[in-house]
Amino acid sequence: MNDLGRIEDLPADYVQDMRQHNLVPLWPSLRGVLPPKVPTRQTQPTMWPYGTVRPLLMRAGELTPIEKAERRVLVLANPGHGLDKMQASAAMYLGMQLLLPGEWAPSHRHTPNAVRMIVEGEGAYTTVNGEKCPMSRGDLILTPTGLWHEHGHDGTDPVVWLDVLDLPLMYYAEVSYHINGARHEVQPGHGERRYARGGLLPSPMFERSAQAYPMLRYPWAEARDALLDLAADEPGLEQVQITYVNPETGGDVQNVLGFYALMLRPGQSLRLPARSPAQVFHVIEGGVRMACLGQTFEMTEADTACAPGYEGVTLTNPHADRPSFVFMADESPLHRKLGVYEVRG
Ligand SMILES: [Fe+2]
Repeated sequence: MNDLGRIEDLPADYVQDMRQHNLVPLWPSLRGVLPPKVPTRQTQPTMWPYGTVRPLLMRAGELTPIEKAERRVLVLANPGHGLDKMQASAAMYLGMQLLLPGEWAPSHRHTPNAVRMIVEGEGAYTTVNGEKCPMSRGDLILTPTGLWHEHGHDGTDPVVWLDVLDLPLMYYAEVSYHINGARHEVQPGHGERRYARGGLLPSPMFERSAQAYPMLRYPWAEARDALLDLAADEPGLEQVQITYVNPETGGDVQNVLGFYALMLRPGQSLRLPARSPAQVFHVIEGGVRMACLGQTFEMTEADTACAPGYEGVTLTNPHADRPSFVFMADESPLHRKLGVYEVRG
């Protein structure tokens, strides 16, 4: 491939003239925006150990009252993008959020889609359009685009959860905004019981639900059992993984990001192929050695890491006597909609 002309090759007054008229020559930047074969990626393999995050988050609980924060969050920022960009990857934002006993994070809704993966503590809840979703370790709670949500805490100890949002994409697309609302009357949650049995869906008057988000809470106890059953059913299965789906359609739970849970058998090493989307890993139980792009992270419970797209990732369970469980998020739904989803093997 021949080298293209550089900006320095052009007369300075010519460049100046163009810039004054809001014009820029393409050829000096062409290879940057359309590189050969592999995209330019700012996302770097990065780990955020919970042992590092937790004391700093608890300090935020002392320093900043909830009224001054609304959402008391430390953002897990990927240094490859620059910390001020507050993004883990091109489309994913990660934040560790702390709610102390008795606190309340007021009702709002926004265009970005969010999920919560509960990391620590009992007694907190999220209401989504008024439906109460209790929060326990490993539960996944959806707060999709446009749905009212607020957080409360009736327990006695700090509660921490991992927020995963498509905020960087929404912000980039200039569609990110929020609206504050009044406190909702809380209804008990129901979705996870209604959809608790595989292949059996409610159909009152022979009609299926047309709700875009029929299920808002995915209890960890169910996901964990599903993984253990799958592993027992298929002893030779290499990738013991489930996907969080909309139970009515079988499709992705949200429009932009995809969510999964993975079980590594005792001592197992699993090579995830190079795929186009960036990925996030959060250890729910056990431990994981994650290797990507020559870097290795020793992850223990509640640690979080991310990997750029187009790179293979190897996950190893260092424990010979017990399985490890990992929550994963990626940009697959977005890539499929854009028509750029790739598995390179
Ligand atoms: Fe929110």
